[in-house]
Amino acid sequence: MPVTKAVIPAAGLGTRFLPATKSIPKEMLPVVDRPAIEYVVEEASRAGLRDVLLITSRSKKAIEDHFDREPEVEATLEAKGDQVRLARIRSAMSLAEVHSVRQGRPAGLGHAVLCAASHVGHEPFAVLLGDDLIDERDPLLEQMLAVQERFGGSVMALMEVPEEQVSLYGVATVEAVAATPSDRYGVVRIRDLVEKPAIEDAPSNYAVIGRYLLSPTIFEVLRDTPPGRGNEIQLTDAIRTLALLPASADEPVHGVVFTGRRYDTGDRVDYLKAVVRLASERGDVGPEFYAWLEEYVSAGGPKADPTT
Ligand code: UTP
Repeated sequence: MPVTKAVIPAAGLGTRFLPATKSIPKEMLPVVDRPAIEYVVEEASRAGLRDVLLITSRSKKAIEDHFDREPEVEATLEAKGDQVRLARIRSAMSLAEVHSVRQGRPAGLGHAVLCAASHVGHEPFAVLLGDDLIDERDPLLEQMLAVQERFGGSVMALMEVPEEQVSLYGVATVEAVAATPSDRYGVVRIRDLVEKPAIEDAPSNYAVIGRYLLSPTIFEVLRDTPPGRGNEIQLTDAIRTLALLPASADEPVHGVVFTGRRYDTGDRVDYLKAVVRLASERGDVGPEFYAWLEEYVSAGGPKADPTT
């Protein structure tokens, strides 16, 4: 069965970005002039997933509003004949059919995914974390869909990280899989997973990043998954159960080892990198911004003369 639905969990507390995220969802922080989550919905839409379910919460109403009409602003822009800004404000809604459901309490990413069960039904689906940006030039989701078509089961995105960072991620025990000519990124079979291990307990440096294609069996597994690390229901724990199922269950878990551009916009430094890079590369604001950036850096950066 082809994957047509994308689930975007965005109900986390965003504590790493406080105080900005006290009243603004981290997914709504602007990356140049669009909220981070719009890039994620756009990525799903580009890969052909035009049914998008946002997992939000009471304090994330702004996300739901962003994908809704804004009649007052639209009418004002229409009266002014400002077609450029009208297209901008309408772009979020044209990307996909966007639905939302609320996670009553932040009981973990696994719990957030379980909130999607009745919307998804009995079909494989994608999960894209709402604060994780993959550059639009890097076809990660497209390759994950091809791998899911090849092997069935579930597919997760992995990235090799420096050893000292393994304790920030879910980490996989992997086995090589023969490449096919169309593979841009390496493919591995996932044999085991551990959530945020200490360096000495990490089975590898293959870290789980925020893109998943999951078999609907995950919902049954999640219902039986007890709270794990941080007393939260961990998606990694449930996928581990899938990976450990006997081969006869015919539910393999594969990994696509991403080597492209990724930004965790829930992390302050990564967020800043995303803004600087995407702003520098834009056709409109890019030339002026990058010229200033070059001048600022060559003048000594933080030590630059205050007139720069
Ligand atoms: P994070 O690990 O980034 O946690 O969640 P967080 O709470 O959002 O942020 P910090 O670490 O406190 O700064 C990973 C993803 O899972 C979602 C988040 O919105 C994010 O997309 N999530 C997490 C939920 O939807 N619900 C939860 O209960 C937990």
